Amino acid sequence: MTNENTFPVSDNVVWHHATVTRARREAQNGHRGAIVWFTGLSGAGKSTLAHAVEEHLHQMGCRTFVLDGDNVRHGLCGDLGFSATDRVENIRRVGEVAKLFMEAGVIVLTAFISPFREDRNKVRAMVQPGEFVEIYCQCPVEVCEQRDTKGLYKKARAGEIGQFTGISSPYEAPDMPELAVNTSERSLQDCVQQVAAEVLRFTKARRL
Ligand code: ADX
Repeated sequence: MTNENTFPVSDNVVWHHATVTRARREAQNGHRGAIVWFTGLSGAGKSTLAHAVEEHLHQMGCRTFVLDGDNVRHGLCGDLGFSATDRVENIRRVGEVAKLFMEAGVIVLTAFISPFREDRNKVRAMVQPGEFVEIYCQCPVEVCEQRDTKGLYKKARAGEIGQFTGISSPYEAPDMPELAVNTSERSLQDCVQQVAAEVLRFTKARRL
């Protein structure tokens, strides 16, 4: 069996509806839930920006949570590598988890390379229009490689890591992200302001 997104569903399972609904949770929080999906190369600043935006929103009283690629791969997705198939599964699982957070009324910020357009669009299709806010962290691979905060580009160039995004594995930039932030030229504070304004437009300005 599959669900409306053609993802697999176990046999003999029946959906149970909660009495504490998403609408009640959102009314209590004073804002809507949403998925804020950061995408970009390793070292483009996704995690840094996601956490800085979370700090900003948290100080405003918003309910937030960050799902981060490196962290999630320590647990939920620890069995996955970096082949195309594993990356597809990584994003599918993260999409499902992010949707659960959103339904709990949370503004969930995800920081995954998520290199394939089709996978990001599948997550977008899992939720309603306006609930998936795609943020493209735009940074040339040369700049990411120069920063090389984790030393992984060096290893990739030396052939010690295969299928490394931007070097030996593709990255497909979004065609129409809700927002593209130039993380190589703009300050972190500037990027935070841009992203936070966009997120609030989707989660606060829309009527509860
Ligand atoms: S994704 O492609 O499946 O979305 P994800 O965001 O979870 O990737 O993980 C990326 C992180 O894993 C990078 O920031 C980097 O620290 C690490 N990493 C290890 N090997 C690779 C690789 N081959 N390609 C890209 N990132 C890698």
